[in-house]
Amino acid sequence: MATMQDSPHLGEESQPGGPISDRRSIIHTQDWGKAYGEQRAVDGVSFDVQEGEIFGFLGPNGAGKSTTIKMLITLVKPTSGSATVVGYDLVQQTNEIRKVIGYVAQEIGVDGRASGRENLELQGHLYNMDTPTIRRRIDELLTLVDLTKEANKLAGTYSGGMRKRLDIATGLIHSPRVLFLDEPTTGLDPQTRANLWDYIRRLNKEQGITIFLTTHYLEEADRLCDRIAIIDHGKIKAINTPSYLKEQVSGDVVNITFDRPELPTDDSRRETARTVLSQQTWVRDIQTADRGGLNVYVEAGNQAMPEIIRLLDQHSIPVVTIALSRPSLDDVFLKYTGRQMRDEADQQIKMNPWGGPRRMGGRPGGR
Ligand SMILES: Nc1ncnc2c1ncn2[C@@H]1O[C@H](COP(=O)(O)OP(=O)(O)OP(=O)(O)O)[C@@H](O)[C@H]1O
Ligand SMILES: [Mg+2]
Repeated sequence: MATMQDSPHLGEESQPGGPISDRRSIIHTQDWGKAYGEQRAVDGVSFDVQEGEIFGFLGPNGAGKSTTIKMLITLVKPTSGSATVVGYDLVQQTNEIRKVIGYVAQEIGVDGRASGRENLELQGHLYNMDTPTIRRRIDELLTLVDLTKEANKLAGTYSGGMRKRLDIATGLIHSPRVLFLDEPTTGLDPQTRANLWDYIRRLNKEQGITIFLTTHYLEEADRLCDRIAIIDHGKIKAINTPSYLKEQVSGDVVNITFDRPELPTDDSRRETARTVLSQQTWVRDIQTADRGGLNVYVEAGNQAMPEIIRLLDQHSIPVVTIALSRPSLDDVFLKYTGRQMRDEADQQIKMNPWGGPRRMGGRPGGR
């Protein structure tokens, strides 16, 4: 697998009109970012996405995920650094890039007043495709996303999951090599979400499409992505396979809660426990967890548990639950950002305040 070091630097192999590079790195960015005045939405990131992988950008609200995608699909101009997509320069060769990428926005983009088939036809015409090709492609895509039977019904009558599947199909009409999905499962129930993961995997495995997606769901990143970048405040904090990242948080996690769920939390018990436990040499790290609890990172959980119980008892700190687990991606996020992800994700309101185009509209080639 190519790494950032052996990826081409922009301009290195520049050929007028042709791809700058044909190496397996299908997306390459170098010190690349976007500032809105003082606000650095994406702050000098460098990463590569390999052809054929499912690559995830994982981060909380306002981390810079949508801005990254919008720059990669040429809707937003970067203000620093350089990048290539499918070997094309992101600033100089936007027309070429638009022909080989597909984009599905954070918000549902299908027209509810048109049927599934009509939505796809419209998108095909926007890409200047001829009618026989559009028809053939629509049949393929409807099969791929299991919407053949519903194709002639109004998209407005579809369930949330069906609409998202149609949305993904419209992003694929012109057979792109890379598909960008901005938070593809936000707002869907867990079962529909898991279902959609299967479709995304099929696209990747059966059609060989490279997928770049953003998510604020740890589980989604863990289950779906070959590699993930953890992004926070516009910076990449870590980038690797989910399993490698989890291995970096070695040892065990002891989760302790001090308050009954139905009662308000009392921070003083937690803070006393933190003080007591942080003095122990076998405690590697302590982080505030959900429901006013603590996550205590230790080498050997089975030895630490009885010791923790004894210490808390000695200091008359009542415990409601104590549980041992292996590190999750949640712990990885906490380790690299010092913050818990889940709280923010739960509160997330999925309306993008900045609006903008819902999908790569317009003809490829037009800016
Ligand atoms: N057009 C804009 N003008 C000014 N600031 C912007 C603009 N677009 C984004 N930002 C700011 O840039 C930062 C990153 O925003 P972005 O939409 O990329 O985050 P995100 O990770 O997609 O968040 P979410 O999970 O809410 O979708 C935020 O602080 C946001 O307020
Ligand atoms: Mg976003």
